[in-house]
Formats: sequence, C-alpha cells, structure tokens
Amino acid sequence: MQLKTILPASRLKGSVVVPGDKSITHRALLLGAISSGTTRIFSFSGGKDCLSTLNCLKQLGIDIRLSPGSDPHLTIQGKGPDGLAAPASILDAGNSGTTLRLLSGILSGQAFPSRITGDASLKRRPMDRILLPLRRMGAEISSLDGSGKAPLSIRPSALTGIRYTLPVASAQVKSAVLLAGLYAKGKTSICESIPARDHTERMLSAFGGNISTKKGPKGGLITTLVPSVPLLGRDVPVPGDISSAAYWIGAALLLPDSRLFLPRVGINPTRTGFLTVCRRMGGDLTFSRTQTFLGEPCADLLIRHSLLKGTVVSPEEIPSLIDELPMLAVLAAFARGETILRGIGELRFKESNRILSIVSNLRAMGISVSFTEEEICIYGKQCPSGAAFSSYKDHRIAMAFAIAALAAATPSTLDDWECCSISYPGFFREIERLQDL
Ligand code: S3P
Repeated sequence: MQLKTILPASRLKGSVVVPGDKSITHRALLLGAISSGTTRIFSFSGGKDCLSTLNCLKQLGIDIRLSPGSDPHLTIQGKGPDGLAAPASILDAGNSGTTLRLLSGILSGQAFPSRITGDASLKRRPMDRILLPLRRMGAEISSLDGSGKAPLSIRPSALTGIRYTLPVASAQVKSAVLLAGLYAKGKTSICESIPARDHTERMLSAFGGNISTKKGPKGGLITTLVPSVPLLGRDVPVPGDISSAAYWIGAALLLPDSRLFLPRVGINPTRTGFLTVCRRMGGDLTFSRTQTFLGEPCADLLIRHSLLKGTVVSPEEIPSLIDELPMLAVLAAFARGETILRGIGELRFKESNRILSIVSNLRAMGISVSFTEEEICIYGKQCPSGAAFSSYKDHRIAMAFAIAALAAATPSTLDDWECCSISYPGFFREIERLQDL
C-alpha cells in the first residue's frame, strides 16, 4: 500500500490547466469509433478510465493513434455503425462505470457476441439499471449468475426503440439506452425528472444525429433519438474537467491568501452545481472568456480564498454535482455552521461507498457528522486537525482528502493515493508545483 504524508500548506497561487473532461472524452472515443470518417480528440483526458474505453475499442478493431507534439490529440478512424469487429477475448472496463455501461449499449446492437468486465470495484457496482432497459429494447444481455453485476455477456439480437423513464438520475443509464437506440428499429425516448449530464445528447447532435430534447409534463425532460441517420466523425476540442477543477477550487477557497486561475473549464449547466453551491457558501468565484467547443460551454475561472458558511444542498441539485460531493463535504468540514447534503443515496454505488468513505475520513479529522442512506449532515469546525485518511482506492476520495490535508492544522497521511490516476494522473505533482510558486 502506498502511503503519502501531506503537510499543511500556506497558500496556492498560480494557474492550473486541468485535464480534459473525462465524460466527454469517453463519448468522443465511442462515437468516433461508430461514425464514418475521422475523429480527432484534442485536450483529451489521459486518465486510466478513458484508457479503458480506448483499449476496449482497440479490441473491437478500431484504429486509434496518439499524435504527440505541441497540440497532442487522438485520431480515430471511424468504421461506421456496423464496423466493429468481434473481440478475441473479454473486454476489460477496469475501474470505469462509464466504459462498461455506455459500451454495453453499443455492444447490444452488434452482430457478434461479447463479454465485458471490470476491476473488483466495478464488479461490485449495480448493472441491473442498464440490463432492465436494454432487455426491454430486445437486448440479450445477462449478468454474472443473474446477480445484476459484471461480467456481462451480450448476444446478438434485434433491438426496438422504447420510451423509458429513468428511475434514478443517471447519465450512464441514459447514454447506454440512447447508444443502443442508434441500433434500434424506431425511435427511443428517455424521460428524466431531474436531468443528469447531457454530454451524450450534445455530442450525438454535433456528429449529425437526429436527437432532440423538450420539456416533459411535470417539468422534467424528454429526449428523443431517431436512428438511421449516419454519424460523421468530427474534431472534438474537450473542455477542462469541472470535476477535476473542483479540487483546485476547494483548495483555493480553503487556504488563506490563495488565488488560482483555471483556464477553459467546462461549464455545461448539467455539471455546474458545485460552483453554485460554493458561491452560496460564500466562495469568491468568477468566470470570464466564456466560449463553446462543439456544443459544450467552457470559461476561465478565478478563485480566491473565502470564509465559507454551511448550506443545505437539495436532492434536485445532486445530479449536477454528484462527483463533487466528496470535495463539497470537505468544504463543509471547514465552513461555519451546519451543512446538509440531501438525496445523496447514489453515492453508495460509486467507486467506493462514498457516504461511508466521506463519513469515516471526516470523523478521523474530528468533525462531527451524522448520516443516513440518503443524507449527510456535517458540523463545520475551525481548524480541523489532520488525520490518517484512507482513499478507499477511490480517486475522488483520495483527491478531496488530499485537499483536506493541505488545509488541516496538523500533518496527515493518505493511503493508496495513486488511484488519483483514474481521472487525474498528475494531481500530486500539481500540488507540489503550486506550493513552489
Ligand atoms: C458519468 C456519469 C455519472 C458520474 C460518473 C460519470 C458519465 O454517473 O458519477 O463519474 O460520464 O456519464 P451516473 O450516471 O451513474 O450518475
């Protein structure tokens, strides 16, 4: 086990170019593979999760090359919707739920059988949420001994479009169904009461797909995909990942005298809940130079140290900050007063059970916390002490508590810190660089 000692830091100053958005990179790889023509992906995420998608596609016969140099990019020679080849062995999604769930949607529409699995964490996560709608479309997809868990086996079958109401807000489920919908007879519609991230919809539209979204009867959204329109490869400039930016936003807010500049961060409105809540807590955050990259808005962010106060985060806000909840919980620990995070049950099904991971790490630093299966209540404290933190082999827990360690009053340790490379390989090097400036 790798143990890192993290000392309290005085301030962070300078600018950080955060890695390309992980969700957008996955989608660009997948859509690039099944489109005709060439797709080039710029400022892509080089994290292990996206590498899992890339390697699965290579196993499916797709040619993907890295062009290094001053403007590094990935070039994919798309083979069209039916150009994937049967894999010689089981596909490995590693730690990546996005790879496993989205690719299963595409594999359900192929004329060859396939199997897909993942690491120990991914094999514990629920897959029945995609099995159910994909089977309703006619997919022949089964899980390990009917457990609803990976490995999944997929056999060729004819798909039909469905209208599906998402039982949980999940972009991965929505995307798996939409991608299967590309191979279905008839249209596919998804109804969402609280909209999850919409990168798949935006990218399908940018690649020429026939997809539209309208308001549903009870204020939700209905997205409809009409298949049989050919997708065309594109150049995809990927904005910086707001989920990676969240750690630097958190660090700059917590460390006195800090000022950090983050250029070209994605601000897709389905992802900006963390920025809204930080501002509500008193955070000094400003945007400038807003621009749009292939349907995805991004902006430069400037963050200054601020005194934070507790807040209540409602269930409706959760999908727009789901991956930022560990960092938000850390901010709450340092804020004045109480913070309640409501409607967070989905955290139990992430790379670790994030409710338990957050609670035990906060308690280790002397923070008073209460929790249920759906809610965490955090009582902030002035100058919490450092602690022996565990990452639970979960990249977002590792990075959030590394920032807690920088802001704590006494030294901390963090185990299994290298799991940060799932989404942010250079994270700890950046911490050292920013302190040297
Ligand atoms: C993701 C969707 C979210 C998020 C995950 C990435 C995506 O999961 O937590 O890190 O790229 O679609 P759910 O859709 O399961 O909430």
